[in-house]
Amino acid sequence: MSLLVGFSLVNALYFGGLRVISGVLSIGQLTAFLIYLVMLIRPMIAFGWVINILQQGSASMARLARILDTEPEIRDTAHADFSIQNILGEIVFHNVRFTHQASDRESLRGIDLMIPQGTTLAIVGHTGAGKSTLVNLIQRLYDVTEGELLIDGKNVKEIPLHVLREQIGYVPQETFLFSGSIGENHQLGHRQVQRRTFARGCQSLPYR
Ligand SMILES: Nc1ncnc2c1ncn2[C@@H]1O[C@H](COP(=O)(O)OP(=O)(O)OP(=O)(O)O)[C@@H](O)[C@H]1O
Ligand SMILES: [Mg+2]
Repeated sequence: MSLLVGFSLVNALYFGGLRVISGVLSIGQLTAFLIYLVMLIRPMIAFGWVINILQQGSASMARLARILDTEPEIRDTAHADFSIQNILGEIVFHNVRFTHQASDRESLRGIDLMIPQGTTLAIVGHTGAGKSTLVNLIQRLYDVTEGELLIDGKNVKEIPLHVLREQIGYVPQETFLFSGSIGENHQLGHRQVQRRTFARGCQSLPYR
């Protein structure tokens, strides 16, 4: 852009200067022409920026639309019991096996685990042992391939997805914060908070 601006000024000066010397153009006309030329520089640069921003925006919008249009594979099943409003927190894995879709190797095999309500449990193991996978099953980011996962004695698939996920606090291994306050990020997925946030035009929300 700077190169083009420089070239056009040099050209205008050179050819305009020749015309002034040969008497075709007055020095005033050349000066006026040069001033107009300089006045055009900023709008032309801004025009380029606007086109750039529009193209970036439309590319981002297309990617967003693709994500928003994606039908989630995991949703409430026909067995979901919508009378369940709360979970207490007893978690039982019963001979659970799990294989990732893109993989032909089992990530979890023969998991039998009982975590009583209100207890704290740390799961340790080497890289790739399946710790994250195990935790992701609880909130149904994946569904078990074989076996059963029970929460409060009910198969996790019977618990409405929003009830399950609203009541689980989860800090993922790769953390990501949306643009917004820490409070909004913390309460993401909480319906009341979302409604209030949208009502306020997505302004920052005091954390309670
Ligand atoms: N999306 C995926 N597709 C296919 N295989 C996967 C996927 N995610 C994890 N795996 C595989 O499942 C196994 C368990 O992975 P997981 O991420 O649960 O391990 P981890 O114990 O959490 O490891 P780390 O300590 O590195 O976090 C690994 O062999 C991994 O390669
Ligand atoms: Mg992990």
